[in-house]
Amino acid sequence: MRECFLQTLLLLLSCCTSAAANVHNNFLYHDILGQNGKKQSMHIIVYSSGVKLHVDNGQPSVFGVRGGNVTLPCRFWYEPKLSSPREVRVKWSWLPAAAGGREEDVLVAFGSQSRSFGVFRRRTELRQEFLGDAALVMTDLQLRDTGQYRCEVVDGLEDERATVHLELQGVIFPYQHPRGRYLLSFLEAQRACEEQDSTLASFTQLFQSWKEGLNWCSAGWLADATVRYPITWPRVPCGGQGLAPGVRSYGRRRLNFHRYDAFCFTSSLRGKVYYLQAPHKMNLTDAQKACQQDGAEIAKVGQLYAAWKLGGLDRCDAGWLADGSLRYPITRPRQNCGPAEPGVRSLGFPLPKHMHGVYCYESDDE
Ligand SMILES: *[C@@H]1O[C@H](CO)[C@@H](O)[C@H](O)[C@H]1NC(C)=O
Ligand SMILES: *[C@@H]1O[C@H](CO)[C@@H](O)[C@H](O)[C@H]1NC(C)=O
Repeated sequence: MRECFLQTLLLLLSCCTSAAANVHNNFLYHDILGQNGKKQSMHIIVYSSGVKLHVDNGQPSVFGVRGGNVTLPCRFWYEPKLSSPREVRVKWSWLPAAAGGREEDVLVAFGSQSRSFGVFRRRTELRQEFLGDAALVMTDLQLRDTGQYRCEVVDGLEDERATVHLELQGVIFPYQHPRGRYLLSFLEAQRACEEQDSTLASFTQLFQSWKEGLNWCSAGWLADATVRYPITWPRVPCGGQGLAPGVRSYGRRRLNFHRYDAFCFTSSLRGKVYYLQAPHKMNLTDAQKACQQDGAEIAKVGQLYAAWKLGGLDRCDAGWLADGSLRYPITRPRQNCGPAEPGVRSLGFPLPKHMHGVYCYESDDE
């Protein structure tokens, strides 16, 4: 009764004095500093009853690997505390990292009922371990799951949200068209990566590889349709010695008009890559058949990179891969096995009739 009276009083005041304007506006925004010093935004709704709903994700990013599980945190609470719990609606949605990606629903929950959608069906659930827990548990992560996830809590007429970024960890590799440098449009770059068991890399992923020493003098498309190249030791043909090391940007380019290379990204493998023990060298078609006869398939470029970087594959024999390129993985550099740094050595795209070894990929699935 008294609260009602107060509200009416406040409303009356707010229509007549400018000093009360803030009360009428029942949204307050605060920027707070999180534990790690990173700025997080916490949104607070002030109800006319004086109860505030808070929604917070607690951390800006979460990292996972392909095939792994992650929990995207989200928590809501009221101040002052409610005497009895209220049923709220929780909605998670996803904004893909890829340029042109549209927002998609992930999961909607009301009380203990929940439903997930599209590519997230059977892979997501709401945790609900404690009062106000609205964390999203995701299993069997896919390469394309990278992006911004938004947790939205709806109580009555009011809703508030917090976002968390999901980033996959793995390995980046530069990819060129078989006929040479700078021949891929954005869509072709996207497709080229997908055909090699990978996706176009995000800027965060490229930046991480640059910190780990990736030095590449050709510009490539990234998932957000920008074009960049990572330089760890500046030299003349890569923009000159005067420039500082860094991830250089050409900015956002026209998707169908400009042509560059691609930066592909891949993560953990469910399966193994191996160099086929064969009695003799093979041309490309026979190499494909030989892997099939071994109960496997010819390895894709992304699979070889994942096996090298995440599985430590080391083999000083060049072998055919699915795209018709010839490569070999070195983790322990030595004489006659390429440069002094570890890496996947590329010998280009020989004629398909040439005779070489082959790398096969055997999946763990089935
Ligand atoms: C992910 O979660 C599922 C379901 O809870 C479980 O079966 C699986 O072993 C987990 N995978 C990993 C890599 O932890
Ligand atoms: C590879 O060799 C087989 C015979 O072993 C032949 O039938 C096939 O045409 C050859 N493929 C290419 C691309 O040269």
